[in-house]
Amino acid sequence: MTIVNIDDLRLAAERRLPKLFFDYIDGGSFSEETYRRNREDFSRLALRQNVLADSAEPDLSTDYLGQRRALPFMLGPVGFLGLYSRQGEQKSALAAHAAGIPFCLSTFSIASLADVRKATNGPLHFQLYVLDDRSLMNELLAAAEDAAAEALFVTVDTAVTAVRERDVRNGFRSITRVTPGLLASFCRKPGWLLDIAAGGQPSVRALEHRADFGKGALEQAANLSRRIDKKLSWNDIARLRDRWKRQLIIKGVLSPEDAEKAKSIGADGVVISNHGGRQLDGAMSTIAALPAVRAAVGHDFTLMLDGGIRRGSDIIKAIGMGADGIMLGRAYTFGLAAKGQAGVAEAIQILEREVSITLTLMGCGSIDELKKRRSHFVFRQHATAQEGIV
Ligand SMILES: Cc1cc2nc3c(=O)[nH]c(=O)nc-3n(C[C@H](O)[C@H](O)[C@H](O)COP(=O)(O)O)c2cc1C
Repeated sequence: MTIVNIDDLRLAAERRLPKLFFDYIDGGSFSEETYRRNREDFSRLALRQNVLADSAEPDLSTDYLGQRRALPFMLGPVGFLGLYSRQGEQKSALAAHAAGIPFCLSTFSIASLADVRKATNGPLHFQLYVLDDRSLMNELLAAAEDAAAEALFVTVDTAVTAVRERDVRNGFRSITRVTPGLLASFCRKPGWLLDIAAGGQPSVRALEHRADFGKGALEQAANLSRRIDKKLSWNDIARLRDRWKRQLIIKGVLSPEDAEKAKSIGADGVVISNHGGRQLDGAMSTIAALPAVRAAVGHDFTLMLDGGIRRGSDIIKAIGMGADGIMLGRAYTFGLAAKGQAGVAEAIQILEREVSITLTLMGCGSIDELKKRRSHFVFRQHATAQEGIV
C-alpha cells in the first residue's frame, strides 16, 4: 500500500499487528472523548499565509530540553515497543538518532536502558513511573544515570489506570500468558509473528532478575502496572528532585496550577499531556490547555506537548501556541508496528516534510522565527490575528 501520511502508517500497522496490540496502541479510555478532542481542537486554529517571502527550505532546528535539536519534535515514551516489532525500542532510538532527535524510553519496555545505550550513542531520556517497590525504582534510576539519560520524565497522570474498553473486550489486561485462542490470532498475522518469534519469548529485561514479577512480557507487565505508586504526591516528586540531578520533567500536566507547582518544586519543565486520551476521559485537549499553562509559568520554563500529533501543521500550531518542543506517541509507534525501524524513520520524514512545506507556505523561515512571533503565525480561526495567544 502507498504510504503518504501518518494515517496510512496507522492502517499498515493495523494490517500487520494482532488486533489485541493494535487496539492497545490506537485506543483511548471510556468514550474516547478526550482522545478525539486532542485531534479536533487542532482544527480550531489557523495558520497565517504569507506569500512571496522567499522562505523555501526553512530551518527546522530548534532548542528544547537544554540542547539544539535537528527537528522540533522527538519520540516520547510508549510502552512495549518491543512487542510490536522485535527490538522495537532499539529500532525507535536508532531512527530518532539518525534524524538528530531524542528518544525517551518508557519504564514499560522490553529492552533495558543498557540495551538501548548499547545500540546507539544518541540523546536518550527515561520515562519513570514511580513504583511502590522503591528498590526497583532506585535500580531504574541508577540504570538511567549509567546510560547517560539526559532527562527523567516522571509520568503523573496515572494514579489509577483508566478503563480502555477496547482492551477489556480483547481481554488485554487479563491475559498473562499466550493461550491457544491468542496463538490462533497471532498466527493470522504471520509477518509480525515470525519477526517476534525469532527473538524467543519476549520478556522485560529490567525485570529478568525478579522472579516475583513472573515470566514473559505479558505477566511481567501485569505485575509491574500493579506496582505503580497510587499514593504519589508532590512531596514524592520533591524528593525525586533531590535524588535526580539532571533535568526533571513532569509528564501529564494540563492545568496552570499543576504546572506552577511543578516549577516551584524545581522541575525543569512539564509535558502538557493527557496520556493521549488514555486516562481522564473528558479532560481538555492538550492544545486547548497550552495557552493558559504558558501564561502561568512564563517564557523560560520548558513546555513540551503531546497528544493527537498526526500532521506537521499540528506541530506548528502547538509551537505557535507556546510549546518549546513536541513529543510523538502513536505517530511513530504506527510506523514501527508497520515496518520496523524504516517505519519509524518514515513517520519522522513524513512529519519533517509536512512541517517544512507548511512553514514555507506560511512565509516563515525557521522554527525559531515561529517561536519569536508565535501569535503572528498561529491564531484562533474565528479571531483576528491580534487576538492570537502568545
Ligand atoms: C501504546 C501506548 C503506550 C504508552 N505508554 C506510555 C508509557 O509507558 N509511559 C508514558 O508516560 N506514556 C505512555 N503513553 C503516552 C504517550 O507517551 C503520549 O502521552 C501519548 O501517546 C500522546 O498522544 P498521541 O499518541 O495521540 O500522540 C503511551 C501511549 C500509547 C499510545
